Amino acid sequence: MFVPEGVVTNERMSRLMDTSDEWIRQRTGIAERRYARAGTSSCDLGIEAARRALEDAGLEAGEIDLIVFATMTPAHYFPGNGGLLAAALGLHETPALDIRMQCAGFLSGLQVCDAFLRSGTYRRVLLVGGECHASLYPWSEAEWAVMFGEAEGPVSPAAYAWGTAQRDRAVIFGDGAGAFVLEAHDVDDGRGFLGFEMRTDGTHWDKLYVPGGGSASFPYFSPEQFEDNRTVPVVEGRQVFRLATTAMPAIVRETLEKHGESLESLSLLLMHQANLRINESVQKTLGLSDEKVFNNIQKYGNTTAATLPLVFHEAKQAGRVKAGDLICFTALGAGLHWGAGLLRA
Ligand code: ACO
Repeated sequence: MFVPEGVVTNERMSRLMDTSDEWIRQRTGIAERRYARAGTSSCDLGIEAARRALEDAGLEAGEIDLIVFATMTPAHYFPGNGGLLAAALGLHETPALDIRMQCAGFLSGLQVCDAFLRSGTYRRVLLVGGECHASLYPWSEAEWAVMFGEAEGPVSPAAYAWGTAQRDRAVIFGDGAGAFVLEAHDVDDGRGFLGFEMRTDGTHWDKLYVPGGGSASFPYFSPEQFEDNRTVPVVEGRQVFRLATTAMPAIVRETLEKHGESLESLSLLLMHQANLRINESVQKTLGLSDEKVFNNIQKYGNTTAATLPLVFHEAKQAGRVKAGDLICFTALGAGLHWGAGLLRA
């Protein structure tokens, strides 16, 4: 995993908008998040995570057969981050695939990579999830200085009013990247990914989306979109909360059942980190003890496609992933896309 150095606490957020450490912790569980500095893209974060993953796997970039990059905040509208990452790793012919399924992007990437490995199409795949949400919010340099603790503020009344209008979303996102190296193995020892269940219900597309900046607008970008705040995400927070707390437990149960497993045989549930209250509700619905869940949203907020590798890496570092453990990944994101995947560690 790789997260940028810039730690932004809730107290710092409260200097840019009408919010408080108490509100953010109580409603989301988030204490701080990381924000990348201006000029650092989701691809830059992904490059660092990819280098670390390759080093951990003891592989050179040239030994990778396919790159898959999941992000909802690409460095450019096009081309996608996959090719940029390949170039940064010195690869000129290795194919690269881009996934844009928001918070379910990494999970979907795992399923796609697993299918490629099972079919024998590729033997080694580098899967990266990376996000820079900070750049979605067009604060000026003066506001960023307050955010990063380099100036005390106050910010201008106009900036404060703008921040307050975005506060339900601005406080929940954070930047970061994570990467997995996935390799086919010929001996069936019961280890590896056992399978995935993925779902999409596009009728909920407008529960969480960015209204402006796309071919649904004519022109694609216009000054009016910025003036009307149509370039930042909008969310029907309570609806997404409700969908997440019902769809995730259901898909976890279904995935376990399909593979002849149960909540009893499950060692660890690693959930997308959108809101600690969502995860507490899922844990309660499934009746899982604290030993069977691991969360790190407190430190990073919602890092969208980077979340699952971040939470997996930190669970591993904390000694919560042991050989033979049955691990379930689950996520729900804008689209709406959701699903679950099972890993025998
Ligand atoms: N600070 C202080 N007050 C706030 C803040 C804030 N940061 N945000 C909202 N409020 C206020 C609102 O203005 C409102 O005030 P009012 O009652 O006076 O009108 C009140 O708090 C309640 O607002 P809600 O928006 O209903 O707050 P809620 O408790 O639902 O929390 C949140 C909002 C955190 C977004 C929550 O709904 C949530 O986590 N939803 C799920 C998001 C999610 O799952 N995303 C996953 C996918 S993300 C992806 O795919 C990219």
